[in-house]
Amino acid sequence: MAADTAPPAHAPVATVTGLLSGIAGTGTDKIRGGYTRPVYSTAELDLRSWFIEQAEKRGLAVDTDRNGAIWAWWDVPGGDRSNSLVTGSHLDSVPGGGPFDGPLGVASALVAVDILKTRMTTPTRPLAVVVFPEEEGSRFGVACLGSRLMTGAIDPDKARNLQDPDGSTFADVARANGLDPRFLGRDHKLLGQIGAFVELHVEQGRGLIDLDQPIAIASSILGHGRWRLSIDGQGNHAGTTLMADRRDPMVSAARTVVAIRDIARKQDHARATVGRLQPVPGGTNVIASRVDFWLDVRHPDDAVTAALVQGIHGQARIIAAEEGCSVELREESLSPTVHFDPGLQKELQLALPRAPVLDTGAGHDAGVLAPYLPTAMVFVRNPSGVSHSPEEHVMDEDAETGARTLADALHRLMA
Ligand code: GLV
Ligand code: MN
Ligand code: MN
Repeated sequence: MAADTAPPAHAPVATVTGLLSGIAGTGTDKIRGGYTRPVYSTAELDLRSWFIEQAEKRGLAVDTDRNGAIWAWWDVPGGDRSNSLVTGSHLDSVPGGGPFDGPLGVASALVAVDILKTRMTTPTRPLAVVVFPEEEGSRFGVACLGSRLMTGAIDPDKARNLQDPDGSTFADVARANGLDPRFLGRDHKLLGQIGAFVELHVEQGRGLIDLDQPIAIASSILGHGRWRLSIDGQGNHAGTTLMADRRDPMVSAARTVVAIRDIARKQDHARATVGRLQPVPGGTNVIASRVDFWLDVRHPDDAVTAALVQGIHGQARIIAAEEGCSVELREESLSPTVHFDPGLQKELQLALPRAPVLDTGAGHDAGVLAPYLPTAMVFVRNPSGVSHSPEEHVMDEDAETGARTLADALHRLMA
């Protein structure tokens, strides 16, 4: 073949912004703004298909594991997958989320593979790009459900019985999407094959803006958890029930939300949020019979998190009694504070000497995997400092720098 018609030794290197523009129309939310891509919704399934197509285009071997995570492998000759390097993130979103939380890590991982393919024809260590399902917990309530199942951090029975807002169980939804719910749970073989996991993610706060840097290495994740509070009162008619005769759980809930804010404000470094509240039955002219709402509490010291939740429960009980109501609190998930692997962090610092080291208040699959294998994270600057909102942003040049940085870090870890 003539030299000028010879195929390139490797496929062209994609750009992160190019890849993300290919999914910019998927899961847009016309009511909330931004993106709503809950796990196994049409939007998230479309993103999964997009990922598989992108992975196959790169010659990666794709399979879906028994917990619904998708793995795209760049194998070493002979196909041994022990001591693999894994990178990736998630494609599901919170309701009305931004375009980068999750997809940035997946697109950057694909570009990092492209870059590495310009440097070597076969990897010196097996490399996989992974997409974890239900990282946000926005459909079934438990964040990082895929990585929790894979590691055994959640009882598969508990996972099977989780329900989405329409009352479908995770078992049913998993079955409808080609999984066998009997086989959900700890995957010893897969876990044993992973030597290290590096997740790239949009920064969800202002750390990099304040430091005027594009990229950071993560040190730790704040401990966090989710609790459901149910306040029972008496459903009744909005017009015929005198104010003195009411047992209104909405009033109790409203007072409790303010009390939660006040309790968290008194504790250094604490964060407490009520972002979702559901009156039952939910009519304008109906005094609710019950209000369910969800509490998210975070603090670097897990004992303080527990004490905060206990204090909130105590205050909620007092308020409920004053309003003639009763309250029940149930833990839905808990993630202790995570410090990332110091050895891996040091390797990343050698590969990225200018990157500052930052902690984060946001949860990630890398945090769930951290007790089981060496994990690390790389953050990319978010000039809005805002996340879980359509305002979340990443500048084009930072996105490409992130992918190059990830490639450099993975290259170093292959050595
Ligand atoms: C996930 O992004 C979380 O921190 O809740
Ligand atoms: Mn995320
Ligand atoms: Mn998120």
